[in-house]
Amino acid sequence: MENGPVPRSRAGAVRHVLLAAVFLACSSQLLVDANSWWSLGLNPIQRPEMYIIGAQPLCSQLSGLSQVRTKVLSQLICLYQDHMTYIGDGAKTGIKECQYQFRQRRWNCSTVDNTSVFGRVMHIGSRETAFTYAISAAGVVNAISRACREGELSTCGCSRAVRPRELPRDWLWGGCGDNVHYGYRFAREFVDAREREKNYPRGSREHSRTLMNLHNNEAGRQAVYNLAGVSCKCHGVSGSCSLKTCWLQLADFRRVGEFLKEKYDSAAAMRVGRKGKLELIDKRFNNPTPEDMVYIDPSPDYCLRNETTGSLGTQGRLCNKTSEGMDGCELMCCGRGYDQFKTYKHERCHCKFHWCCYVKCKRCTTLVDQFVCK
Ligand SMILES: *[C@@H]1O[C@H](CO)[C@@H](O)[C@H](O)[C@H]1NC(C)=O
Ligand SMILES: *[C@@H]1O[C@H](CO)[C@@H](O)[C@H](O)[C@H]1NC(C)=O
Ligand SMILES: *[C@@H]1O[C@H](CO)[C@@H](O)[C@H](O)[C@H]1NC(C)=O
Ligand SMILES: *[C@@H]1O[C@H](CO)[C@@H](O)[C@H](O)[C@H]1NC(C)=O
Repeated sequence: MENGPVPRSRAGAVRHVLLAAVFLACSSQLLVDANSWWSLGLNPIQRPEMYIIGAQPLCSQLSGLSQVRTKVLSQLICLYQDHMTYIGDGAKTGIKECQYQFRQRRWNCSTVDNTSVFGRVMHIGSRETAFTYAISAAGVVNAISRACREGELSTCGCSRAVRPRELPRDWLWGGCGDNVHYGYRFAREFVDAREREKNYPRGSREHSRTLMNLHNNEAGRQAVYNLAGVSCKCHGVSGSCSLKTCWLQLADFRRVGEFLKEKYDSAAAMRVGRKGKLELIDKRFNNPTPEDMVYIDPSPDYCLRNETTGSLGTQGRLCNKTSEGMDGCELMCCGRGYDQFKTYKHERCHCKFHWCCYVKCKRCTTLVDQFVCK
């Protein structure tokens, strides 16, 4: 971080105090998932903690805590208070992208209840869990990097990335770029803090899960970092483009989602090795790089609702009668069959361009078939 990185232990402690503050400030009936910063990504009505963290009185409220080092910690929280909104936005972007990428799958990345964003399925160290961690971390890097560029944060500004060597010599380098360097480093402190503060014995299940989470958080951050690229704008007399200004720009988040989805498809199955590190189950594959996703448990059955695993099941899901893919009724409904409904679909149609300059459409209603899993 440009003002010096937050030491790890402190970052962890910051979280504790933050959450303590959330609980103190929340009404007694409120249930917040204390274990997950993802809850910052929920809808504002369901996440009053967003307002509480973002609210000014937070700094003074903290002085009521009778803990050692409270003063230092509250100063730190006040210092990074302006980041909280962006962490929330980033988590939300990540969740939305996850739901888009998995919209046609049995597990559709849906958020289940108000106590935890993704529910019990996250207790299983599956491929899906790996994706969720990666895309959420990616969302935070994305949001913080952009907020820096937009001048929304007190501790960072435009990117200071060095001029790429391959840039033609007469092009200018120096527009205000997304500060992906800061975003990456901040997210590493914030998102990993929770994993790093745990102290499980080496070789235990919990420890291997921690290693898995850390690896996937990193994969998500790297995706945003590595997909950021050079963007340029033309100048010069009437679009002659004799002069160009270039800067560092984040990739569209959809591209990050697609990239991570490929990493999901090729995720590596791991287990704890003798030295307490994760190692490949099948040694014929290449070792995963920091860009790759890893998982330690097989996926639960997403076909049927199961309270133990947290699977929601696919009953009631829409499916496509003619598709042979995962969205097809055969696979989506796991062979249970489907019900057919007729439903009205409203859309804009017969659009006409009027001089000048607007488009006028009619509203058409058509009767379409819908198929829903039994
Ligand atoms: C979630 O919220 C709903 C309505 O706000 C409430 O009825 C329900 O009990 C809550 N669930 C849990 C597990 O707290
Ligand atoms: C739920 O999943 C668990 C773990 O896989 C399994 O043992 C159990 O039989 C399942 N329960 C139901 C009702 O399917
Ligand atoms: C995802 O699946 C759940 C459980 O089947 C369902 O309730 C929910 O509506 C689905 N979400 C979307 C966006 O399709
Ligand atoms: C259903 O799947 C078919 C074949 O993949 C595709 O052409 C069609 O557009 C899909 N229909 C809907 C409503 O998505």
